[in-house]
Amino acid sequence: MNILVVGGGGREHAIIKKLRENPKVDKIFALPGNGGIALQAQCLPISPLDIKSIVEFAKSEDIDYAVVAPDDPLVLGAVDELEKIGIPCFGPDKRAAIIEGSKVFAKKLMKKYNIPTAAYEVFDNSADALEYLENSPLPCVIKADGLAAGKGVIIAQTLNEAKTAVCSIMEEKSFGESGNRIVIEEFLTGPEVSVLSFTDGKAIVPMVSSMDHKRILDGDKGLNTGGMGAIAPNPFYTEETAQRCMREIFLPTISAMNIEGRTFKGCLYFGLMLTKNGPKVIEYNCRFGDPEAQVVLPLLKTDLLTIMRAVSDGRLSDIDIQFSGDAACCVILASKGYPLKYATGYTISIPKVLDGEIFIGGAVSDGGILRTSSGRVLGITATASCLEKAVRKAYDLSAKIAFKDKYLRSDIGKKALEVKADGSQGLC
Ligand code: AMP
Ligand code: GLY
Repeated sequence: MNILVVGGGGREHAIIKKLRENPKVDKIFALPGNGGIALQAQCLPISPLDIKSIVEFAKSEDIDYAVVAPDDPLVLGAVDELEKIGIPCFGPDKRAAIIEGSKVFAKKLMKKYNIPTAAYEVFDNSADALEYLENSPLPCVIKADGLAAGKGVIIAQTLNEAKTAVCSIMEEKSFGESGNRIVIEEFLTGPEVSVLSFTDGKAIVPMVSSMDHKRILDGDKGLNTGGMGAIAPNPFYTEETAQRCMREIFLPTISAMNIEGRTFKGCLYFGLMLTKNGPKVIEYNCRFGDPEAQVVLPLLKTDLLTIMRAVSDGRLSDIDIQFSGDAACCVILASKGYPLKYATGYTISIPKVLDGEIFIGGAVSDGGILRTSSGRVLGITATASCLEKAVRKAYDLSAKIAFKDKYLRSDIGKKALEVKADGSQGLC
């Protein structure tokens, strides 16, 4: 089988390594891939945003199956176009990908179908939004409607900060057209959990739960990033919470999308906050999370391609999906300065023997030498029988990898390890 994978970060590397485990897989083409993915797949310099060229490329090769991994091509309709030329795909079509592509759509869906989420108002002009802010409680959360590379959410502590955010998004268009509409929502508190799930629109199978670490500095301080590390399973997500989420959030979401004529097939990501009043949806993503995929996929025991094809064919309920009972930790090695300005082009040195796995997020291969090429450079993942050991192994391996301006958080997994061990997870 020949497979096309759209995307080129750590998440795609984790997906491709997993697909390679299936002996039926011959060629994998990655658009654009990266210097690490090139060890497992043929990489071609086609942008994930260039749907026309992706389709042209797919026509020119004998592609049996495609996996569209990032949000932008999904929201732009890459799956629709590939399916039009007869290539089955993993990923939602454009009508379903809107669940991530428009926060206004997602909020209205949740309101209409009673799915728990933060209270909110929608605005399509800054004057109304600014007037509303005068009497709204603080802190408040301001979100650009469309995609904004993970940066479109601002938590405002003061009225001034809130007004500045509205002006920046709606008037100065800091996120372009994505800021034509905004959501202003209630500020919630509680532990956050990422639950990625496989769904074919009928069945839904949640993967092992995980926890992202979004801020750049230790102690969840500093700017938001794409994610500086992750752990799985998430000890805050108990069996009882999982059952409640299935009843109150997961099944109602699948059913709501069906009723709206927007059946979702692919990986549906639930960003949840476990509040005092129960679990609530912070965000939906229409794809695997990054770095969450880098801890969840290494724990997957069932063949990924088999699951993906069952999702596309609408026979997910025929598959028994198993995760190992182990824990995983992924530490992101970034370029100093990220998520703002940083330099690239530095040689990366990696030891020959690895006690763990390296997912390449942003590196190019320069005549066989790996060089840094973006903000999040490597994801260093270790699995072990308990979280404490997985964290230690991931940090031991991270210390052995060298490149100029290497930056990492030193507390990935700390919050999870502080959770009182209930005997099943956390401390060894
Ligand atoms: P998002 O880009 O939607 O993932 O949001 C980024 C982060 O902002 C989330 O992971 C939360 O930590 C935070 N956030 C988003 N919405 C809320 C909310 N209503 N209350 C509190 N924090 C929020
Ligand atoms: N790690 C959060 C995301 O992938 O959106």
